Amino acid sequence: MSPLTTLSYTNCVGARSSPPPSASPHSNHKMLERVLSSRRSTPHSDDTADDEDDAVNGGGDKSKTKKHQHMFFHATNRASYYLTRMGSGGYWPCVIALCLILVLVSSLLLSSPGFVCISPYNPVSRAGFFGFDGLESDFGSLGVPWCRSKHGKTVEWTSKDLLKGLEEFVPIYETRPINNNMYGMGFDHSFGLWFIARWLKPDLMIESGAFKGHSTWVLRQAMPDTPIISLSPRHPEKYLKKGPAYVDGNCTYYAGKDFVDFGTLDWPKELKKHGITDLSRVLIFFDDHQNELKRIKQALKAGFRHLVFEDNYDTGTGDHYSLRQICDQSYIRGGGHSCFKDSDEARIRTIRKKFWEKAVTIDELCGPSDAWWGVRGYMRDNFNHSNKPISYIEHFQNSRFVESILDVYWELPPVAGPSLTHQTRYDPARTPTPIVEDGRYGLFRRLGLTRLDTSVFNGYTQMVYLQISH
Ligand SMILES: C[S@@+](CC[C@H](N)C(=O)[O-])C[C@H]1O[C@@H](n2cnc3c(N)ncnc32)[C@H](O)[C@@H]1O
Repeated sequence: MSPLTTLSYTNCVGARSSPPPSASPHSNHKMLERVLSSRRSTPHSDDTADDEDDAVNGGGDKSKTKKHQHMFFHATNRASYYLTRMGSGGYWPCVIALCLILVLVSSLLLSSPGFVCISPYNPVSRAGFFGFDGLESDFGSLGVPWCRSKHGKTVEWTSKDLLKGLEEFVPIYETRPINNNMYGMGFDHSFGLWFIARWLKPDLMIESGAFKGHSTWVLRQAMPDTPIISLSPRHPEKYLKKGPAYVDGNCTYYAGKDFVDFGTLDWPKELKKHGITDLSRVLIFFDDHQNELKRIKQALKAGFRHLVFEDNYDTGTGDHYSLRQICDQSYIRGGGHSCFKDSDEARIRTIRKKFWEKAVTIDELCGPSDAWWGVRGYMRDNFNHSNKPISYIEHFQNSRFVESILDVYWELPPVAGPSLTHQTRYDPARTPTPIVEDGRYGLFRRLGLTRLDTSVFNGYTQMVYLQISH
């Protein structure tokens, strides 16, 4: 079977169990329950984590730390036992026990990667969020909405595949021509796009939204000989005059004066030119900040099946209507909101805003008449240049439409937890568990991720891979 069609039903990173059959929309009670109960322990057991370590060089840093601490406790106990027996009645046992406790405490602090890696976003200490009050695994605690697919199909790659991919991709990323890609993709999404393209091995790659050409370069690293079509109002070569940019030799550019929008290009003619007869062997990458519902309809009409959206903005954020927003529905596990100002959700959001730049408070989330969908009840398009109000019914129907054509929905998890990446922008409470979990500094380092500037981890916006069909 060709790589583009090999999708299986196995569990994988980012895959979710099937949703509850149906729940009443606007179920505030359910929402509260979810917010309160979803502070769960990490889904990976130590064993699984060590397996993942083995995938990239063997040896779990977590278990090493645990063993070290255990030996210390053992030694402390034995020492106080002997001292008590030798010098009962004197001060010496107390003094020595106190010294040992001091040594133990400093050893624990120094051996905790979370302790040394915290970088505060504002003056409030973030220590509480990383391991001192039990919230270290708060990924997804405010819900991670997702889109249901027709038959519950998911991708075939696993967390091990992602880890292996990361190990391979870091040195590639270090050779990128555009070192500072501000306003374009950072590390997380570059990895996601590279991984997906490499896994699917398409015969043609189409990109809408090239900017200076970083994403074109990423596609090229994944597939060295595959043709690319790139659509972007400004040709990447224009940026060459000012600084680094990437122009690909095997790419057809519809850019600059030749720019054509994805929705108006004559695709049958274009595909014929490229000798493509099987549209399921084409991968489309959208980073053009257009309404994603509009782009899905255009892609369906042209017969494309494999789509990646770079900016899959969370509800209440972003400059265009996204899949995340569309599928953030009360009947989806992890979805839906209430606008009650004194709800738990409101309280938690207010606290989280202090720590995460892109977290939204209930006031920012909810517009007039308590409209929370899209961005305060608006369906944004074209970098927020067009901004149309939609009713909840329309929004709900959009989600049902998406479900009716969706075969696979897979959100790229963040590459690593914030205590490792130092990112302070996206709120982990709205994202799936990262590929490298918080506290796994050894793995983070072995993957080469410590070599990267921390600014490259700031751009995560839930990149999504979709497979669609009529
Ligand atoms: C965020 S940038 C893309 C970043 C790029 N993919 C990267 O990783 O560096 C968005 C790009 O979309 C382009 N754009 C705007 N409208 C567009 C449209 N209708 N079709 C395609 N691209 C569009 C913008 O000019 C800009 O270059």
